[in-house]
Order: sequence, then structure tokens, then C-alpha cells
Amino acid sequence: MRMVDLIEKKRNGEELSKQEIDFMIKGYTNNEIPDYQMSAFAMAVFFQGMTKGERVNLTQAMVESGDQIDLSGIQGIKVDKHSTGGVGDTTTLVLAPLVGALGVPVAKMSGRGLGHTGGTIDKLESVPGFHVEITNDEFIRLVNENKIAVIGQSANLTPADKKLYGLRDVTATVDSIPLIASSIMSKKIAAGADAIVLDVKTGNGAFMKNLDDAKELAQAMVEIGNGVGRNTKAIISDMSQPLGFAVGNALEVKEAIDTLKGEGPEDLHELCLSLGSHMVTLAGKAASLEEARNMLEEVMKNGKALETFKTFLASQGGDATVVDQPEKLPTAEFVIEVPAKEKGYVSEITAESIGIAAMMLGAGRLTKESDIDLAVGVMLNKKVGDMVNEGEAIAYIHSNTKDVKEVMDKIYSAYQVVNEKVDAPTLIYTEIQ
Ligand code: URA
Ligand code: CA
Repeated sequence: MRMVDLIEKKRNGEELSKQEIDFMIKGYTNNEIPDYQMSAFAMAVFFQGMTKGERVNLTQAMVESGDQIDLSGIQGIKVDKHSTGGVGDTTTLVLAPLVGALGVPVAKMSGRGLGHTGGTIDKLESVPGFHVEITNDEFIRLVNENKIAVIGQSANLTPADKKLYGLRDVTATVDSIPLIASSIMSKKIAAGADAIVLDVKTGNGAFMKNLDDAKELAQAMVEIGNGVGRNTKAIISDMSQPLGFAVGNALEVKEAIDTLKGEGPEDLHELCLSLGSHMVTLAGKAASLEEARNMLEEVMKNGKALETFKTFLASQGGDATVVDQPEKLPTAEFVIEVPAKEKGYVSEITAESIGIAAMMLGAGRLTKESDIDLAVGVMLNKKVGDMVNEGEAIAYIHSNTKDVKEVMDKIYSAYQVVNEKVDAPTLIYTEIQ
């Protein structure tokens, strides 16, 4: 087999066989197929697309390019959740203990953040003592005992995707639905979940700026998941503004604690109940979404979700008393108000700009080696649809330096304020099964 023939075939719009895709991904992983040929192939896919069969085979080949996590030692149906690029997306911190409290095993492999804000591990590390340096055996034991544990990402998960994603980034081929779908799904599948719930974001702050594209991506990922035998569902949710109020590591932990008590921001609360209902039904713990939702609301009310969060934090070295005394979390020295420049209604808050503002404060990494400041971030005070008066706070900057002029300008650039009344955006557009 020759790579040049496969490029030509795809360029002409023909379908590649499983053997051909395996040959290509193996060769690329082993450095036998050079970047320039793979670039040409990615561009051919960009224009010609891929059939459902090709997408499944590409995903499976990338899964097999590296380690596959064996979670068979964990009892029950392991359900994983994935969000496609949100800012201040605190859902994982809430969902893991929330569904764990209902006996759904959550075996979470997470990464550190790059850019924007921190990843789930960074957020959790704002709890003093918490760490993810646990062995695989301990990870499995903790999930069986407490229904929830978090471990750092294996270095050798889907190396083919790692290479290909890097290549796409510099060859203008990131924006291809078959390539995005197989990239995301390969990582989820290699991480070992039996079932997967996807939260595909749409809006100015998301990869998929419009609803039709988001639907197409969600459909593609659901087909791949089901195609490789993992029960997969997706919802499409709004990213025309950050989720909740908090963007920053410790700030988001505090927001997650509030949400686990049933006292979180409305949008975050609702999205967690929706995603959680799918996780609980996929895990076979409820017969319908309604039943699952009632069960989730119950564990928020009776304190079981919070208890599960405490047990989880303590089991990985964390100081669980932060849950009842959030003032023990890292706090910033200065809290600086961002006053509205004019009166009106908030019509848009560009999530990416808020993420960048948080990163400028030190909440996110500019490079893989940067240290992050767990205390800092942005607390939104006004969301889309809210009325603001001139001089009223639209947001608060939590900073460890006094000079925040650039950060403030970034926040102003994110907010659009108009004269006419604006409705709050739809949070969940549709579900795809
Ligand atoms: N995220 C991924 O992991 N892969 C893509 O291709 C795009 C976004
Ligand atoms: Ca948030």
C-alpha cells in the first residue's frame, strides 16, 4: 500500500477501507508516513468529508495507536462526559460527585489546562492537599469505594491524534467535522468509558458558531460512539456567554460547591441536571430522564452530593473542610469592580475574551510550563438579558496585583450592551441520540 494512492483516492471523493485507514494511522504514528503526506490527506478530507464507516475506522485506528485504559475492574456502567470547549465550564466538578452520589461510577482521567483557564485537575488542586498522583490500582479501588476518582492523563493516550491535531493546527484543517469528531471520540474511547454523554457548545464562544454545525458535529460523534459499541448521547448547549458566574480555578470550585447544594447559578444548575440525567439513565440507574432528574435533585437537597464530594476530596489527600468553609480556598488579595460604562441590556458576553481575561490574571497557562494562580479569576455579575445601570458592576476581577487595566479592557471588549431589551439565551437547544 502507498500513502500517495490513499491521498488520491480521498481527493477524488472515494471511500477508504478499514485496512487502508489502519495502514495510514499506523504509518503516521510510527513516523513512516511524513507530515506532508498526512497534511495533504487532511486537506482532502476537509474538502471531501468522510463516510460514517470511515469516521468509525479512523477513530478506532487512533484509539489503537496508544494505551487503552482498562476499567473492567470497576463495577457498573462507567459513563464519561465531554464538553467541546467551554469557558468557566464548571460542569465536570459538579457532575462527578452529583452522579457519583447515585452510585454511577465516575472514573475520570483529566488534564491540566492550556490557555484560557485551568483544566479540571488545576481546579481541584485549589483544594489544599488534593492530588491526582495515584496508581492505576488505587484509582480503580477508589472508584469502587467512593464512585469517583480523578487521575492524570496517561502520556501515551491516542498518540496518532496528538500528532494529527498538531498538524491540523498549522495546515488550516482543524475545522473539519469528521476530523474533530474522530479526534474527540478517540480520546474518550481510549479512556475506557462504557457510555459517553457529550455537551456540544454552540455560539460565539464555541468551535461551532452556529446551531447547524453543532448538530452535525454532535451527530457525527454520536454515530462514532455507537459505531464502536459505546452508548453515546449528545446535547447542544449555548456558549454565547460563559456558564455560571465564576471563571478561575478556586472560584469555580466554590461555584461547584454552591451548585451541589442546589444553590448554584441557574444555567449551570440546569445544564448539570440535564447532562446528569443522561449519565444516570445511560448507567442504568433510572428508567427515564424524568426519574433521573428527580433523583439528582434529591441528592442535592439531602446533602448526599456534597457528602460524596467531601469523601472524594479527602480520599485524594484534599482538605474536605473547604466544602463547609470555602474561605479556606485560595483567595485573591484584591477584588476590583468593573463598572458598566453605559446603561442598557447585556446582549452578548464573548466567552473566549472572559477566558483570556482570567488567563491574563494568571488563572490559565500561556505555555505548558507556566505556573498558575489558583486564586484569581473573573466573577461575572451580569449575564445576557440582564439590565445594567451606568456605573453598576458587570463583573468583579479577583487579582493578586492592583494594576488590572488591561484585564478590565478585555472584559469591556467581551460585553455588548444594547438599548433594546434582550431575552436570556436558550440554554439547551436540542438532544441527539
Ligand atoms: N478538540 C479536539 O480534541 N480535537 C479537535 O479536533 C478539535 C477540538
Ligand atoms: Ca463557571
